[in-house]
Amino acid sequence: MNGDDKLILCVGLCVLDVIHVCREYPEEDSDRRALNGRWQRGGNASNICTVLRQLGAKCEFIGSLSNSKAFSFLTEDCRDRGILIDHCVYHTIPTAPFSSVILNEASGSRTIIHSNLNMPILTADDFCKIPYERYRWIHFEARNVAETEKMIGSILQWNSEHPDQRIIISVELENRSEQNVELVQNADYVFLSKDFAELMGWMSKEVAIHNLRKYVKKDAKLVCPWGIEGAIAIDNESDSHFAALAKPPAKPVDSLGAGDTFVASTIHSLAQGKPLQEAIDFGCRIAGAKVGFYGYDDISALV
Ligand code: FRU
Repeated sequence: MNGDDKLILCVGLCVLDVIHVCREYPEEDSDRRALNGRWQRGGNASNICTVLRQLGAKCEFIGSLSNSKAFSFLTEDCRDRGILIDHCVYHTIPTAPFSSVILNEASGSRTIIHSNLNMPILTADDFCKIPYERYRWIHFEARNVAETEKMIGSILQWNSEHPDQRIIISVELENRSEQNVELVQNADYVFLSKDFAELMGWMSKEVAIHNLRKYVKKDAKLVCPWGIEGAIAIDNESDSHFAALAKPPAKPVDSLGAGDTFVASTIHSLAQGKPLQEAIDFGCRIAGAKVGFYGYDDISALV
């Protein structure tokens, strides 16, 4: 397979997001009308695929999906957008993971209540069936440490046997479980979210990225987006530090998936061979602009 035809594969959750735009955050036990509302496909890995497609990249999502009718919207939406889902595993369960999201028009905040009741996790046995030669980059939403460690191990094995077809591995620490930090030790790129950093007690992006260095391999690159404070990155091997300013819109309306947009745009830029500084600048530009409109569909007009 020609290098340019190779895909970026994203591993993680595919979620139904039901979104209400409210004038203000509702009072408990009140009955309110939303200003606007919609549902869309969400979940970090799935959102990253949405943004990658908007940017023109070829990509695939792998994860567990429900084959119940109510959630067929998720698979149809992937197909409509050219996101491959050939290696997903389907389960006969009535509910896929779903989230209720409140977008507060007054403050620009987004509140997410997520339910993942009984979806079986993607196992390393499921993952190992993928045709490794099809991928240039595999990105993991860090979760399910034991299985994900085996998945990463299988890519390392492929890389050692096929040095000319080496797959780049990235891991995003976002899910709120400290144990996930174990998953970064073999990653080429690590994305560290503010939520995860704060869970670890790392209260600024400088402290966070510094503390993360003891968990990663010698030549890893670390990237830490921090909302309105922009993003920083470190090339662990050369000890080079990079910083990018946030590019907030005049009026923030939809910050749901802004972090996913940053990760997707940065990966897209890096996968095109751009240097780390340029990639995080691009990530901040696209993620900032995204907060100024609803959903992800206007991203393609930005590039
Ligand atoms: C945004 C998001 C939503 C989803 C939630 C899951 O980053 O992926 O699309 O509902 O997080 O935690």
